[in-house]
Amino acid sequence: MKETIPGVFRDGKKIFTMSMVKGYNAYTKSIVTKGKAEYRQWDPDKSKPAAAIIKGLKTFPITSGSKVLYLGAASGATCSFFSDIVGENGVIYAVEISERSARDLNVTSEKRGNIVPILADARKPEDYDWVEPVDLVFEDVASDEQSAIMIRNSDKFLKPGGHAMIAIKSRSIDVVRDPKQVYKEQIAILGKHLEIVEKVELDPYEKDHMFVVLRKK
Ligand SMILES: C[S@@+](CC[C@H](N)C(=O)[O-])C[C@H]1O[C@@H](n2cnc3c(N)ncnc32)[C@H](O)[C@@H]1O
Repeated sequence: MKETIPGVFRDGKKIFTMSMVKGYNAYTKSIVTKGKAEYRQWDPDKSKPAAAIIKGLKTFPITSGSKVLYLGAASGATCSFFSDIVGENGVIYAVEISERSARDLNVTSEKRGNIVPILADARKPEDYDWVEPVDLVFEDVASDEQSAIMIRNSDKFLKPGGHAMIAIKSRSIDVVRDPKQVYKEQIAILGKHLEIVEKVELDPYEKDHMFVVLRKK
């Protein structure tokens, strides 16, 4: 097991995070124990950042102590891996619009202690304007307003020089157009506000998705 990205460990084709909550195996495919440490397998079929890492993403700007704003947290599956990486000194402000998913997110958050669940609409960042400035904004919201949501939230919460990551779902923006055209257009919109650092297509793990890393100018 080798730490190839800070907080992300690799064993052959599998990636892992070091578990903050030992013995708790929700959202993981398998657990590997080495000495006193427990490692949770991070499944690229179920999590877009894991797919991006497996597909060769080089810039992964989350580390121990990072403060993260996570838009579209669902029940907290990917959040739980971010939670392992940021550790006790970091925090994840996790925004989710669905009450059903937010109930599961509350359970994940109670287990971990570094996730702050927020039942809110990411299109309205003014509804959670008490959130502190963050090092990273991550968005995984399947919506035709994806880029606008990212711009609004990074304008408001992202520290200068901070990073953003977005999983662009081409079918949420336009079901019929060629995904490559949709990515190009969305990247042009995002690029007016944020510097484009890196992009990786997520096929075959997530069809018609592009993962983009950005930086606040
Ligand atoms: C693809 S799922 C997220 C999966 C999650 N990121 C993970 O990997 O565990 C998208 C989520 O975005 C939420 N969502 C959609 N529109 C939203 C909005 N305007 N504000 C906040 N969440 C939203 C959905 O309810 C859904 O749970």
